[in-house]
Amino acid sequence: MKKLTLILASAVIGLGQADAADGKALYATCSACHQANGAGIPGAFPPLAESEWVNGPVENLIRIQLRGLMGPIKVKGVEYNSMMPPNASMSDEEIAAVLSYIRSNFGNTSGPVTPDQVKALRSEAGKPPLKADELIDPNEAPKEEAKPAGEEGAQAEPAAPAKVLAAGDVTEQGDVTKSDVQSGPNKLVWGGFAAWTLLCIFPVVTGVGRKKG
Ligand code: HEC
Repeated sequence: MKKLTLILASAVIGLGQADAADGKALYATCSACHQANGAGIPGAFPPLAESEWVNGPVENLIRIQLRGLMGPIKVKGVEYNSMMPPNASMSDEEIAAVLSYIRSNFGNTSGPVTPDQVKALRSEAGKPPLKADELIDPNEAPKEEAKPAGEEGAQAEPAAPAKVLAAGDVTEQGDVTKSDVQSGPNKLVWGGFAAWTLLCIFPVVTGVGRKKG
């Protein structure tokens, strides 16, 4: 009876706060399996408390809600092999709220999930249940972020040699555009000098020529 009252109460709260979905109330959908304290049930339902999945990439969590999950999955070093049904009938706001709730409770301190993030993955709904290897490995997610940064560093390198070339190889490169750009100010100085020399020397030379002639 108590549970029924709770469920009814949360339904009423849910209706009353249709705009601001209440993650705590919506968690009633999950607690039958994952338990009120998020600890799960050993051998049957994996924990949400301090789970690397819950605190990992948000994309995984949204996709699990929209498609469900089946097959072997390791959570906190323990393997589970069961099935979670999808919750695709929940609105974007509700999924965002319940995921934000599990990410900030049971000892979890991860950031919230936004309705827009759910909306962006809505097309996942209706697809067959996910398997763990279709998800981003939460243990490798931080490393993956580090790797592309290194690769980008390598891609960025061509910019550095260009500066070196401009400084050292201007004469070798001749009139290549790169060195033109880099030696722009110098060219102006030399161009001005040349113009000044011509202007000064021409009258002298022609003058001398006239005197001689
Ligand atoms: C009918 C039971 C059931 C319900 C209800 C349920 N889950 Fe699950 N959940 C599971 C099972 C079982 C797995 C592991 C599936 C597997 O073995 O592939 C799981 C896995 C997960 C995982 C990934 C593993 C982990 O523990 O971090 C998350 C996150 C998750 N559930 C969140 C939720 C949320 C949020 C809700 C409520 C909106 C919910 N679940 C409702 C049974 C359930």
